[in-house]
Amino acid sequence: MIFVISFCLQHEQGRFLCFDHLTFWVGNAKQAASYYCNKLGFEPVAYQGLETGSREVVSHVVKQGKIIYVFSSALNPGNKEMGDHLVKHGDGVKDIAFTVEDCDFLVQKARARGAVIIKEPYTLEDKYGKVRLAVLQTYGDTTHTFVERTGYSGLFLPGFHPPLFKDPLLDKLPSGNLDFIDHVVGNQPDDEMVSAVEWYQRNLLFHRFWSVDDKQLQTEFSALRSIVVANYEETVKMPINEPAMGKRKSQIQEYVEYYGGPGVQHIAMNTSDIITTVWQLKHPAYLCNRLSYNSSLTVMLITLFADPNTQSTYTYGFPYFFMCCMFVFWFCFFYI
Ligand SMILES: [Fe+2]
Repeated sequence: MIFVISFCLQHEQGRFLCFDHLTFWVGNAKQAASYYCNKLGFEPVAYQGLETGSREVVSHVVKQGKIIYVFSSALNPGNKEMGDHLVKHGDGVKDIAFTVEDCDFLVQKARARGAVIIKEPYTLEDKYGKVRLAVLQTYGDTTHTFVERTGYSGLFLPGFHPPLFKDPLLDKLPSGNLDFIDHVVGNQPDDEMVSAVEWYQRNLLFHRFWSVDDKQLQTEFSALRSIVVANYEETVKMPINEPAMGKRKSQIQEYVEYYGGPGVQHIAMNTSDIITTVWQLKHPAYLCNRLSYNSSLTVMLITLFADPNTQSTYTYGFPYFFMCCMFVFWFCFFYI
């Protein structure tokens, strides 16, 4: 059964505008960021680490369209908070940040309704302006950061510098055509979906945007229940899932067991051309190989036939040409 409930409340002041960025806590921030750039079309946009004066945590920020991901790793041994998170969950989303208006007011209201404030409102500042932030606890070990960045003109946040290095290969890769974060899904253990949903309704004044039970969302073996909560303008959507009984274990239960509790299961990213996007993201290596192959083949053919009076080139021309044909056959067979 599908339910659509349109009743929603609006804050007297302050708004949740959109997803600002997602922060992943990972074992190797540089490698994780590189994967998203090479495989999903992101570009390095900002960096914070030893070279910028951050001696505890290194962060690589990548961007595509309006999507911003931050990959952070501990630099020193003995970082208990990040170390314990990594042991318990592996690489995962630690924080979902919202761009907000009036951070202080939204935090004050959330606190009054019972939300746990991990970090009281504070200001970061550099020559590009000021940003006001605060951190709240949500399901599991996941947090929400409120980001009020009115007028800030820097790359990402104060304290972040331009990337130290950009892989030259990235300029040759096709765009991913990904525009913005559509929704971020949080998986909960059995019977904990409703309480997680109520947290958003009570503390952030989000409303139920859409919900579905296990009769609707099931395969032959796996089932789940889901309620989507959204901000007043419905620009931030957060589906909250829990497992339901099926012939076999629900995919949600599988997630909860492997992740070690509730957490972000998937991030949906909007694109205006899904066919092109999927094709390009599936074949970037193919496109690059073809590009470099065509270049090298052209060079070889020019070498072979440009100057027939060059004895050595002419003498070995046919074997080289034969090798080219074999290479073309091999390439077509394995890559097309
Ligand atoms: Fe989804």
